[in-house]
Amino acid sequence: MLIRFPLLLALAAVLASASWTRPAAADELERGEALYKLCAQCHGPQGAGNPAIAAPPIAGLPAWYVEAQVYKFRDGVRGAHPDDAAGLRMRPMARIMRTDDNIQAVAAYVGSLPPTDQDATLTGGDATRGKTLYAPCTACHGPAGAGNQTLFAPTLQHTADWYMLSQLQKFKVGLRGANPADTSGKLMRPMSMTLVNEQAMKDVVAYILTLK
Ligand code: HEC
Ligand code: HEC
Repeated sequence: MLIRFPLLLALAAVLASASWTRPAAADELERGEALYKLCAQCHGPQGAGNPAIAAPPIAGLPAWYVEAQVYKFRDGVRGAHPDDAAGLRMRPMARIMRTDDNIQAVAAYVGSLPPTDQDATLTGGDATRGKTLYAPCTACHGPAGAGNQTLFAPTLQHTADWYMLSQLQKFKVGLRGANPADTSGKLMRPMSMTLVNEQAMKDVVAYILTLK
């Protein structure tokens, strides 16, 4: 197991301190920072991610998106499929957070982290072809990939290329976005199907990398 026992003991104290009323912003961030120690084991202290264990960068994602995804993992709407190895690693971490209060606090903290630089890891993508493929994506993610909260679409500006490819594949085969309770995933899934093969996915990802 990747998580050290003393860390879990320290976390238990923070987890138990959840109050009924929503804490003030500064308190919430402080609690979120303490809870983030667990997340840092995989996503790194700055939220830069760790491709070796398929943990994506999460710094640069807005709090509303982080919160929504952690709920999905906790509730088995994402990361519960037996073939979703990376999702299955994330899911128990969301369950450790247990309450909405804790999830809001840790999401607020992640949302406060400055974006990290991500090196390109994929080869063979053609950004020119990708630009054409990205045209329909602008409806939700925006022409600059900045995202749109009203449509639940996250920013793609700080997302790692390898992670985008893996998620497009998961949406397409139904490892993500296929759960009937996943209302926002349902918006994205048909879009992954417009990308006919892995080459098309690499092309669109190569273009998205130019939007940073
Ligand atoms: C044991 C390693 C591990 C730990 C600890 C961990 N995660 Fe993750 N997390 C992952 C992996 C692997 C994925 C990718 C899942 C996938 O491919 O769908 C992920 C995905 C995510 C995502 C989705 C990002 C996106 O762009 O959709 C969020 C948000 C996230 N984690 C937040 C957290 C938070 C907050 C914590 C702490 C409470 C945490 N994670 C702890 C491994 C971990
Ligand atoms: C109808 C709106 C819509 C369109 C059009 C759309 N998306 Fe999405 N996309 C979403 C939503 C909503 C999510 C978040 C799904 C969730 O909550 O799990 C998402 C998630 C993603 C993710 C995962 C991001 C992450 O951090 O895990 C990627 C990558 C992505 N979209 C790429 C694309 C590409 C490429 C296209 C065009 C081929 C596209 N999207 C078109 C709505 C859309």
